[in-house]
Amino acid sequence: MLIGVPRELESGERRVALVPEAVSKLVSAGFEVVVERGAGVAASFPDTAYEEAGARLADDVWQAEAIVKVRKPNDAEAQKLRSGQVLIGFLEPLTDTAGIERLSERGVQAFAMESIPRTTRAQSMDALSSQATVSGYKAVLIAAERLPRFFPMLMTAAGTVAPAKVLVLGAGVAGLQAIATARRLGAVVAGFDVRPVVREQVESLGATFLELGVTGEETEGGYARELTEEEQRKQQEALAERIPDYDAVITTALIPGRPAPKLIPAAAVARMRPGSVIVDLAAEAGGNAEPTEPGEIVERDGVTLVGLTNLASTMPYHASQLYARNVSALLQHLAPEGKLALDWDDEITTGACVTREKVAAA
Ligand code: NAI
Repeated sequence: MLIGVPRELESGERRVALVPEAVSKLVSAGFEVVVERGAGVAASFPDTAYEEAGARLADDVWQAEAIVKVRKPNDAEAQKLRSGQVLIGFLEPLTDTAGIERLSERGVQAFAMESIPRTTRAQSMDALSSQATVSGYKAVLIAAERLPRFFPMLMTAAGTVAPAKVLVLGAGVAGLQAIATARRLGAVVAGFDVRPVVREQVESLGATFLELGVTGEETEGGYARELTEEEQRKQQEALAERIPDYDAVITTALIPGRPAPKLIPAAAVARMRPGSVIVDLAAEAGGNAEPTEPGEIVERDGVTLVGLTNLASTMPYHASQLYARNVSALLQHLAPEGKLALDWDDEITTGACVTREKVAAA
């Protein structure tokens, strides 16, 4: 199977779908790889490294049997896809219905990284987790950089400096990584999630679990159920009380396919100490804090709100390396020994597939 790796065109996107390490493994496993010139440059992977790994370089890679991308194809890219071709990437199946419909009309066999089942067997392909790990880590670095205080406790000749207090809301993959990173920097950390199973994970990282008196449920897929209006109100009120205790708040609460739950009302932000920082990782889905402006860093009542989106792309080397491992695992699943052999009885293949070739679907 020939795999094509195009350069990502989305503005601000610095990741690449395959890195040289993954190319070399795929070549050994019987695949051929063609990489668009310059595809890895923004992630610090030069063309020469791809050549050394066994890839061919080209100006156009869209003829390949499988196209692997980070972001969903734009209009012009979608025009280049043909019936039967395999496409892998973050295709936004829950929110971009028109984009998925367009792929379906073209007869593309599209696999969305977001739709890979979150099961033990598919763990190596779980790109939501790998990219959330990167953004959870980066969120804490941004908070530390923006905060006019130290994170660790310091004992100096000029006296003792108290450690920063950090609160992480939503303790899924990104939240747990944020907790671990803030702890490594020496902050005193608390975490909260509506899924009760998370308490133990938060505590095992050396953080305390914040009691808000709100407990939600976990759906079959391991995700949180959306809270009822009454529960949401209760959560907002409880948080408004507790939030002024913290110097930095990292919010990561998400419900797949839904707008991000509003956890922090503007009035609660106003009660925080001047200089406090909120890094809102849910900004792409509208934000967990009411005053967050997606894509922007703003100041409200002396509090900095960081609503930057796509943080994973700001650490493109490792984000791409991990993503490439996820994509390679999926490719090897769909095409064992380098030959496409789609097994429609397999839960990973059917789970990840969002559109199928017209003939196969008929
Ligand atoms: P996510 O990005 O969809 O959500 C982040 C977190 O926000 C979740 O932990 C969710 O419970 C929480 N949340 C939602 N509403 C909230 C609210 N109102 N207040 C506070 N927190 C709220 O979730 P993510 O990180 O992608 O993973 C969710 C879970 O999926 C994992 O923690 C795990 O249980 C499961 N999972 C399983 C895997 C496997 O078995 N291979 C791999 C990765 C995740």
